[in-house]
Amino acid sequence: MRIDIISVVPELLHSPLQHSIMKRAQEKGLLEVHIHDLREFGIGNYRQVDDYQFGGGAGMVLMPEPLANCLDALMAERTYDEIIYLTPDGETFNQKIANQLSLKENLILIAGHYKGIDERIREHYVTRELSIGDYVLSGGELPALVVVDAVGRLLPGVLNDETSALFDSFQDDLLAPPVYTRPADFRGWKVPDVLLSGNFRKIEEWRYEQALKRTRERRPDLLPPEEE
Ligand code: ADE
Repeated sequence: MRIDIISVVPELLHSPLQHSIMKRAQEKGLLEVHIHDLREFGIGNYRQVDDYQFGGGAGMVLMPEPLANCLDALMAERTYDEIIYLTPDGETFNQKIANQLSLKENLILIAGHYKGIDERIREHYVTRELSIGDYVLSGGELPALVVVDAVGRLLPGVLNDETSALFDSFQDDLLAPPVYTRPADFRGWKVPDVLLSGNFRKIEEWRYEQALKRTRERRPDLLPPEEE
């Protein structure tokens, strides 16, 4: 999968993609992330990318021309499945959307800034708008990284133990069950006996019950009505 990210603060994007699972995904050739500095498509000597909003009001807006030129340059090279704009008024990102996106070949993520991007780019280029939650961040870079991470780890071969993504919280609309590691007794706080029993059927049953219990307590909205 290839993901292109367009940003006015590309420096924000580099480090989080150079470690851990995202690093491995790229090293294995399963994920390519290309970061584009919108300023390279800026206008005039000052490489202007933003301007005051028509009608007045505080805050700058990313101009249509640099974005359109950057998008045109990318779209001339390959076909993109989705052009995604990260914005607090988008559809709320979740595991289901991450799963859908993980099946795509080429994605563009546009990280907005200031008051956002000119509406005409949203109308004529953007195919999907995503928010990572009901709060406002200073730009779309962190949300873009959230999307890359959530999607990238789902690509086949990225996780060592391929089954582990299947048991993540939300993957089956249940939160993940509790996990324990050694020692079995820490300050008198004991690991549940069943996990030490070696009885894998029992362990699976216990994990499922715990997942259900946790979901009922914390996120009953995830459960179908009969299980609540
Ligand atoms: N840009 C600013 N806040 C955002 C959010 N919550 N989700 C996506 N993009 C954003």
